[in-house]
Amino acid sequence: MNERIIDIFTKDALETARANNTYRSMRLVETPESSRVKIHMPNGASQELILLASNSYLDLANIPELKQAMANAVLEWGTGSGGARLTTGNKTPHQELEEEIAKFKGEESSITFNTGYMANVGTISALCGKNDFIFSDELNHASIIDGIRLSRAKCFVYKHNDMADLERAILAAKAEFNTHEMPAENRDFSAFRGLIVTDAVFSMDGDLANLPELLRIAKENDCLLMIDEAHATGVLGKTGRGLAEHYGCAHADVTVGTLSKAVAAEGGFVAGKQQLIDFLRNMARSFIFTTAMAPAVAAAACNNLRYIDAHPERVQNLRDNVKFFCEALQREGVNVEQSPSAIVPIVIGDEARALEISAKLQNAGILIPAIRYPTVAKGQARLRASLMATHTREQLQTAATTIAQIINDCL
Ligand SMILES: Cc1ncc(COP(=O)(O)O)c(C=O)c1O
Repeated sequence: MNERIIDIFTKDALETARANNTYRSMRLVETPESSRVKIHMPNGASQELILLASNSYLDLANIPELKQAMANAVLEWGTGSGGARLTTGNKTPHQELEEEIAKFKGEESSITFNTGYMANVGTISALCGKNDFIFSDELNHASIIDGIRLSRAKCFVYKHNDMADLERAILAAKAEFNTHEMPAENRDFSAFRGLIVTDAVFSMDGDLANLPELLRIAKENDCLLMIDEAHATGVLGKTGRGLAEHYGCAHADVTVGTLSKAVAAEGGFVAGKQQLIDFLRNMARSFIFTTAMAPAVAAAACNNLRYIDAHPERVQNLRDNVKFFCEALQREGVNVEQSPSAIVPIVIGDEARALEISAKLQNAGILIPAIRYPTVAKGQARLRASLMATHTREQLQTAATTIAQIINDCL
């Protein structure tokens, strides 16, 4: 191994990350994902914590009947799929899952990817090319940003949730398009093509995209509208269908989501018109050039979605918990707003202080990670609390009181 060359590629970046308090390491969790977990301590001991950091919002990962259903699927379908979806990997559970997603989302059809990250990257880079225009909220998830980069489309980043800025950006893009001299080989792209893309729930802020306004703007400007419902599926709307159910409005043209958060399995999806899904099956490289997810994972995602469908009270419990927790924090004097999603950001600002508060919370038995640059902007470090349907009121009140005390101690 040539250590000098490894140094040239890696040393500066690691030293800078350490100096900026942005160096990342992983904690080891010794128990399954649930509202209480045990983590491995550096001294070899285990520590039990209230988990306020999970994306498993409905806490489905440990429900005995769902675990049993996945175990049965392993026994029936084995441990892996053995091929890409377009070769030999497309098994009955994949098809059942896609039918279930389309039904759950109220769409004509759906297609699954191995992760939500791959769904975003594959979809955006298939839909758009270098002559197209993409309008992207400044707080969109990294997988959207990477999809845009891969597409090589011209990207306009609009201010977070600022619909006037989005409309300004579309006008600017159209003006640029009209004056732009197309290279001869691309002259068939005579019509303006624009894609508006946004998170439905912003993953570090927990706020929502304004779907009714986005639908209006997309329609008025002949743009395609894509929303990423990673943190909305199973969370928003009376039955957890997502952002359109929350607002009681129409759906976006392209709805992306993940099966790894509230659905408590793995995988990503796109739901929409049949023609869109046929297009992605043919054009999305992150769908085509990869092995299909294990059939048992597809079966688990399908069963878990059916469980959500049959248990809307779970979605309501989550919503009630979020309301209770935000009110408890406010009563304790912590500066938070009532969150419309399962994510409650407690903005601290300074990276080192956020880390210190998170570490003290951990000592006090509460796990809430500090989120820092580059995941959020510099100086916007925060505790990102996320709630589960199964947190008890006692756990949430204890957490709120402890958070308030520790923030005050660290002033
Ligand atoms: C908004 C958003 N989109 C996409 C993803 C990626 O989903 P997955 O974890 O399934 O890759 C995430 C988080 O992981 C996310 O927060």
